[in-house]
Amino acid sequence: MADSEGVVVTIDGPAGSGKGTVGQKLALRLGWNFLDSGALYRTCACIVSENSLPVSQIESIVEHLQAIDFRSVASPFGGEASVYLGGLEISERIRTPQCGRLASELAVHPEIRQVLLSIQRNYNRSPGLVADGRDMGTVVFPDAAFKVFLTANLRSRAQRKYNQLKNQGIQVNYDNIYNEIRSRDERDSTRSHAPLTTPEGALTLDTSSMDADEALMSVLDGLNTILEKSGETQYGNTL
Ligand code: DC
Repeated sequence: MADSEGVVVTIDGPAGSGKGTVGQKLALRLGWNFLDSGALYRTCACIVSENSLPVSQIESIVEHLQAIDFRSVASPFGGEASVYLGGLEISERIRTPQCGRLASELAVHPEIRQVLLSIQRNYNRSPGLVADGRDMGTVVFPDAAFKVFLTANLRSRAQRKYNQLKNQGIQVNYDNIYNEIRSRDERDSTRSHAPLTTPEGALTLDTSSMDADEALMSVLDGLNTILEKSGETQYGNTL
C-alpha cells in the first residue's frame, strides 16, 4: 500500500439494496473518503445524452470521458451522495430512472469500464475509502481490507427507490421502478465484464427487513473484527 493510500472497504450490491445509504453513513462515521461508483456511471450517461453521442460510438464516448473531473461526497443529510462534474453539482440530474438505465447500458462496454478504472482507484487516499458499486470488491479494489455485499428482495428495493425518488420531487410510478430495477439487475449481473456478483470472502447481508442503522452496525462489527485480527485500530461502533 502506497503512503498516500488508506484502508479500503467495498460495498457492492444491486440497485436499492441500501449500499449508498450504508456506505455514506460508514464513510461519515469513519471520516473517510466515499466513492459512489454508480454516480460515476450515471455521470457518463449524462455526458453521453447531453452531447447527443450515439451509444454505438464507443470510441467517441471514451474520448469524452478521458479527462472528466468527477467527485462524489457523502451527504450528511441522508439520501444520495453529492456529485460534482468539473466543480458543478449534478446530483439531481443524474438520479433519474432514464440516467440509471443508460448508465447500465454503457456499463456493459469494457472500454468504458477501463477508462473509469483510474478515476475510481484515485479515490484510495488516506485514511481510508468506502467504495460502493457493482464491482468494487471484485475488480476495482480486489485487495480491499473488508468487502460487503448487500442484497434485498426486489419488492423492498423497488419500494426504497420509489420513496427516494419521490422525496426528491421526481415523478415516479412504482410498477415502472420495479420493472426498471428488474431489467437493470438482469443486465448488470449477466454482462461479461465485471458483472454484479458477490466478492469472495464478503460479508453478505440481506437488508429486506433491516434499516440502514442496523446494516451499518453489522458492517462496523465485521470491519472491527477484521482490523483487530490485522492489529489495526478499532473503529467506533456505537450509534
Ligand atoms: O448504483 P447505481 O444504480 O447508481 O448504478 C447505475 C448503473 O451503473 C448500474 O445499473 C450499473 C452501472 N454500474 C456499474 O456497472 N458498476 C459499478 N461499479 C457501479 C454502477
